[in-house]
Amino acid sequence: MKTEAETRPVEDHYILSRGFAANIRLNLQHYLWKDEVGYLLHPSIPLHVEGLSVADIGVGTGIWLVELSRVLRPSARLYGLDVSHAQCPPTEVMPSNIFLRIHDCLSEPPSDLIEQFDVIHLQCFNSVVPDNDPVPVVHKLMKMLKPGGYISWSEFDFTSWKTTATASGTDYNDEANTLLEYNATLGHTRPKPNFMAHNWTARLPLTFETLGMREIVVDRHPFSREIATYLLDTFMVAGQEISANVLDAIGGGQGDVARGLIEAVGRNRRNIELGLDRLTVIGRKPVA
Ligand SMILES: C[S@@+](CC[C@H](N)C(=O)[O-])C[C@H]1O[C@@H](n2cnc3c(N)ncnc32)[C@H](O)[C@@H]1O
Repeated sequence: MKTEAETRPVEDHYILSRGFAANIRLNLQHYLWKDEVGYLLHPSIPLHVEGLSVADIGVGTGIWLVELSRVLRPSARLYGLDVSHAQCPPTEVMPSNIFLRIHDCLSEPPSDLIEQFDVIHLQCFNSVVPDNDPVPVVHKLMKMLKPGGYISWSEFDFTSWKTTATASGTDYNDEANTLLEYNATLGHTRPKPNFMAHNWTARLPLTFETLGMREIVVDRHPFSREIATYLLDTFMVAGQEISANVLDAIGGGQGDVARGLIEAVGRNRRNIELGLDRLTVIGRKPVA
């Protein structure tokens, strides 16, 4: 299998940033998720197998792979596939059984990635999946799985997103919801359906089933009340990134509108309660 140095950069339409704040945002989300659900990879997936081959698609800062390498057998091989590894630490300081490789999950996998992996993991792909349709992505990932291999896909399920005023929060005008709708409908380089109204994450179990995955496991986990405010902070950082990367480029002052909403959420932060679920869906490729 080719390494990072042997693969070429691909065209990148990512709407979020890859700077310091974005790195911290991803790592904080990772630790909050892990702390809440209590696992890195769902326990229905057997991990303690010699020579396990794991791919993380859209590796971000690499934090998930680094942590997973600490609990797997030394013979495991872990691959971080992404269109950019700018958010990862230097390759030299990462565990020696982690290999980074440029790969666009929206493209057909090359022959050396076919049937290579026992486990393929994805999380936080709302900003990546085009047209609210994960089918082409899952279809390509299934080609990369060994027979009997697993896909584990975890997302914030924005269909469960609910912000309410706290009992003492009389000054709150629902700016967080307005911002989410604003980003969900404009935050892309081409017209995009509203991911709140037509969210594909809630349909992931059905998508897996339709594409022929077996042994489907669904773990829906509401974030606890006291943790959700920290998540709200991370979404506001993401909102700032989208306002600069996408909305300013669209023009018409739309970036300023989004930043105004973010400021209002900041002023009202202690008047808002957020409810949100993390959804994890696991499916297994048939053996024959
Ligand atoms: C929101 S981040 C999530 C990172 C990581 N999975 C996590 O949970 O911390 C999305 C990641 O997907 C990557 N990405 C964007 N478009 C991609 C594509 N077409 N194929 C593979 N990765 C992509 C980005 O570079 C980024 O690292």
